[in-house]
Amino acid sequence: MTEAHFSDVGAAVIGSGFIGTVHIENLRRLGVNVRGLLGSDPARGEQAAARIGLPRAYPSLEALLDDADVDVVHVTSPNQLHFPQVKAILAAGRHVICEKPLAVTSEQSAELVELAAKSDRVSAVNFNIRFYALNQHAHQMVRDGELGEPRLVTGHYFQDWLLLDTDWNWRLEPDKGGSLRAVGDIGSHWIDLTNFISGLRVQSVMADLSTFVKVRRQPRGPVETFSQERAGETVATDMATEDAALILLRYANGARGSVAVSQVSAGRKNSLQWEVDGTTSAAWWDSETPDHLFIGHRGRPNEILQRGAELMNETGIAAASLPGGHVEGFGDTFHALFREVYRAVLAGRAPERPLYATFEDGHHEMLVGDAVARSAGQGSWVDVARA
Ligand SMILES: NC(=O)c1ccc[n+]([C@@H]2O[C@H](COP(=O)([O-])OP(=O)(O)OC[C@H]3O[C@@H](n4cnc5c(N)ncnc54)[C@H](O)[C@@H]3O)[C@@H](O)[C@H]2O)c1
Repeated sequence: MTEAHFSDVGAAVIGSGFIGTVHIENLRRLGVNVRGLLGSDPARGEQAAARIGLPRAYPSLEALLDDADVDVVHVTSPNQLHFPQVKAILAAGRHVICEKPLAVTSEQSAELVELAAKSDRVSAVNFNIRFYALNQHAHQMVRDGELGEPRLVTGHYFQDWLLLDTDWNWRLEPDKGGSLRAVGDIGSHWIDLTNFISGLRVQSVMADLSTFVKVRRQPRGPVETFSQERAGETVATDMATEDAALILLRYANGARGSVAVSQVSAGRKNSLQWEVDGTTSAAWWDSETPDHLFIGHRGRPNEILQRGAELMNETGIAAASLPGGHVEGFGDTFHALFREVYRAVLAGRAPERPLYATFEDGHHEMLVGDAVARSAGQGSWVDVARA
């Protein structure tokens, strides 16, 4: 029997906006056979397929799932569509990579965990930030005890693209994005990433949510994510979701944490930082300088580890593509994540300890979100429900 290759696997992508395009580009880089895409309607799908150079746009999800050569479906549609689409994909016996957040409620994500467990398919949530090579390296460092026992997990995730009242996106509409916005959209990445690196799950939270921009000028037509276009008629729309959140965290082993999340921090384009302080050493990373990891010591000089195969552990090396000094970035994380998931697809099963986020991880993040919302509502500490 000849060895199977990524080119033997067929994929289709739902959504062709900001992130759907990044999925398609990185599937191509991996050599996967990208069969086609599904747009919000057949005409827009056709336009997107022509723009990206894909052979077809499916007219419907049913038509996509009728294509016997599609093995894996990527879900990159707005959040409220993840649940029905993933359900249909699993029912049709396909592997699935779903964008974050996995769903808009934890009832939905719990059901998806169950459906995925009953299927023999590979299922992943696209928490891509895990796949910066130095985050994979840091995950292994903590597992190997190189920081001692983690005590403090701190950081932020700041952006500025929703600073002005003229900034608009579907994420601002709770029926499309979910009832948590900054926390669901980007706080979810930070929670997943720091759980992955520290090896600790959040046990309880104390959260303060703020909606600084109370009324926004909503354009009458759709707006692409990160679009700077401001022309056209607008309507004044009251905001129901948070621009920013401050969250204190407690972990099962007694560790403590805090994170600040904001989409209204001028100048912060996409700034995620985390620090894990352990009993012997510490590590710190910044998504805007992703090829450098700061490692802090008490009794000897601190280190700055620059990504490079000769300097990282095997988990870090496995996620990297380019030689050190040739900076890897956002797009590379999709390539590394998909490589891991498609290896599982070729093997016919998930690895024992997946490095990518599973549906259980995606569900845990939803449960943390529930606790954040309840805590902010009642002004007290709230335990995260057990999955
Ligand atoms: N992992 C990451 O770093 C990351 C970054 C950005 C977005 N995301 C996630 O990806 C998803 C999409 O976000 P985006 O920023 O690309 O949004 P976007 O608005 O740029 O794109 C959404 C796409 O979905 C399509 N769509 C809408 N309704 C549809 C339907 N019924 N069927 C099929 N397609 C439909 C739209 O036409 C558009 O192409 C969200 O869930 C978001 O949270 C993840």
